[in-house]
Amino acid sequence: MIDSHAHLHMDEFNEDRSDVVQRAKEAGLTALITIGTSVADSDRALETAMRYDFVYASVGVHPHEVKDMEPSTADSLRGLARREKVVAIGEIGLDFYYLHSPKELQFHHFADQLDLAVELDLPVIIHDRDAHRETMEFLAYRKGRLRGVLHCFSGDVEMAAKCVDLGFYISIAGPVTYKKSEPLQKVAAEIPLEAMLVETDAPYLAPQPWRGKRNEPAYVVETARRVAELRGVSLAKLEEATEQNTRRLFGL
Ligand code: NI
Repeated sequence: MIDSHAHLHMDEFNEDRSDVVQRAKEAGLTALITIGTSVADSDRALETAMRYDFVYASVGVHPHEVKDMEPSTADSLRGLARREKVVAIGEIGLDFYYLHSPKELQFHHFADQLDLAVELDLPVIIHDRDAHRETMEFLAYRKGRLRGVLHCFSGDVEMAAKCVDLGFYISIAGPVTYKKSEPLQKVAAEIPLEAMLVETDAPYLAPQPWRGKRNEPAYVVETARRVAELRGVSLAKLEEATEQNTRRLFGL
């Protein structure tokens, strides 16, 4: 299977990055995507992808970071996006929960980066926190020209259906394993299997039984196990389907 969303290049893995990759392989992973959140961070993501053949990178500026974007930043991002092993633009999106960047700036740079993805024919990795309605408007506006995934999905079944209708994938992360996450469990049980990805978002959001600890790509198996259980299918079937979906979306 594949961890479709981790931050393997982050400092949290400086001490043992190669061991983390090794454990992911031993857990049965065949690839992972390490996700950029600013231009400097995307550069590190790409560097890490160049070091391990098993690792791919995405490049993008997270809504938390768009407040620091300048015209030259946009040019650097465009250059990075064209590099080998870069498989997506992301993570990009809207975050009205923390509001680390003003809404107007978030809208502006979200639109710009979506348009960059259309121009370069790359999929997008979307971060949406407390901004469901606005996120859907941005995606619907580009219907038919854009493909991608809503990472760490936090909407309801109805929103998930709309995303699938737009040709988007839904990525399920560790919180699906937590006790009080019935809405997400319902989404994981009901969306079409052909539209589902799984991810860790490591080092964040570790699934049970590691909740609160550092997350790592190998733990994506625990999330997949829970989703398989919710759907009443075998883990093998879920692993195979989500791996194929991830390969199809990102052209791996
Ligand atoms: Ni992330």
